[in-house]
Amino acid sequence: MWKVAVVGTGFIGSTIAFVLASKGCCVDAIDINERRIAAFERGDCPIKEPGLAELLREQKATGRLRFSSDFSRVATADVILVTVGTPLAEDFSPDISHIRSATDAIAPHVHDGQLVMVKSTVPPGITRTVVAERLRRFADVHVAFSPERLAEGSAIRELQSLPIVVGGLDPQSSAVAEAFWQQTLGVDVIVVSSPEAAEMVKLADNLWIDLNIALAHDLAKLCDALPYDLDVLEVIAGANSLKKGQHYVNILTPSNGVGGYCLTKDPWFVHSLGARHGADLLTPKTSRTINAGMPAYCALQIAQWARRHDRVLANLQLAVLGLAFKTNSGDVRLTPVKPLLDALRSEGFGTVRVHDPMVLKEDADGWGVELNPSIDDTLRNADGVIFLVAHDEFRSLSPAHIAKLAAPGALVFDGRRYFDRSEIAELQNLGLAYKGVGR
Ligand SMILES: NC(=O)c1ccc[n+]([C@@H]2O[C@H](COP(=O)([O-])OP(=O)(O)OC[C@H]3O[C@@H](n4cnc5c(N)ncnc54)[C@H](O)[C@@H]3O)[C@@H](O)[C@H]2O)c1
Repeated sequence: MWKVAVVGTGFIGSTIAFVLASKGCCVDAIDINERRIAAFERGDCPIKEPGLAELLREQKATGRLRFSSDFSRVATADVILVTVGTPLAEDFSPDISHIRSATDAIAPHVHDGQLVMVKSTVPPGITRTVVAERLRRFADVHVAFSPERLAEGSAIRELQSLPIVVGGLDPQSSAVAEAFWQQTLGVDVIVVSSPEAAEMVKLADNLWIDLNIALAHDLAKLCDALPYDLDVLEVIAGANSLKKGQHYVNILTPSNGVGGYCLTKDPWFVHSLGARHGADLLTPKTSRTINAGMPAYCALQIAQWARRHDRVLANLQLAVLGLAFKTNSGDVRLTPVKPLLDALRSEGFGTVRVHDPMVLKEDADGWGVELNPSIDDTLRNADGVIFLVAHDEFRSLSPAHIAKLAAPGALVFDGRRYFDRSEIAELQNLGLAYKGVGR
């Protein structure tokens, strides 16, 4: 079986490391964050993702999964996966300093014939000019790029089912990368002709997703604005029944915004790359502007409902369900809930209670948010129940339970719970008001 080193044990690196161990690989997971390494060593999983903590404990017990901050461990690996972060710099360009430092740390330990595969999202050219050029001064390594496309909330399943794209520096690098994924995960592997093509694949995927969601947001705003009883989800479902070429129209769903570590930055990567190379790209800027505006749009919708009902905003109590940026994930990085809470405060709302069973208390430190551990306490006497993610716990809340706890006549604002038509009718029959995004 393959010996693997995973460099960078954040969300992506830990998921890949634990899953590969479960497939029988011997995995060394390496990170400069010693606190994180110590937590993994103890069997504590600081990353909130369904199934990850269980997988950690299971695979640690097999002895195939080890943690360290010692980069010399990469020397024994057949494959070194680079999964460090690539944040957005202040000027909206990609910050690849972590890629550089991880490459420098690996370099003295590599040897001929190893495969170094970059999984972090990088602009085209970084695998070749930063990673390969440095490493090949030390040894004749194979080098490839393979975009990571899994989504938080269903990461373990997606890692083992999504097709994997690889682009090697040369045919041999591609061949080793292809064999590695086929033999470990058993998924379809699509080999593209260069690392740059593979690097572009990831940016193209995320630009498509962000732009598609922006389209859904504009449709939702139009449904809200028109003087008819429109439900944007019904409109989208109808529109998506059209086959165009080989595929159906596939408009995604609107919500209270787009968050997380990828969609909020990758379109800006595309934009800054275009600007640097003389191409004035309008779509990334447009999608980012539309999607980043949704939290304020939703706060305004809630405030307008209150004003229409002659309510004094400062006297109202709001119950916000969900802080994470994604359903069934505890990740709050760049969550749209944070700007939405800020916008609710700017609108003048009084008490805002927040409940999210997936989020660690300390992750919300400094946000002026006190996480309430009890969903019922959060809902009790609320004048507005604001659903901002659709964790399983929130999906299973019945209209009757909401009505029992919330104040009479309360507003249920549906940012992402997507109540179906019969549930909406039930909420209304129970005396509650309902407002969704575009519905
Ligand atoms: N989170 C997602 O859903 C997702 C999905 C697809 C792709 N990606 C991409 O994958 C990459 C990793 O994302 P993430 O969410 O796991 O990030 P993360 O911030 O959770 O993890 C990055 C890890 O790398 C470590 N690190 C930083 N510099 C290092 C170095 N020099 N040596 C060793 N470790 C180092 C950090 O300590 C951290 O633990 C990014 O490029 C991201 O764009 C993320």
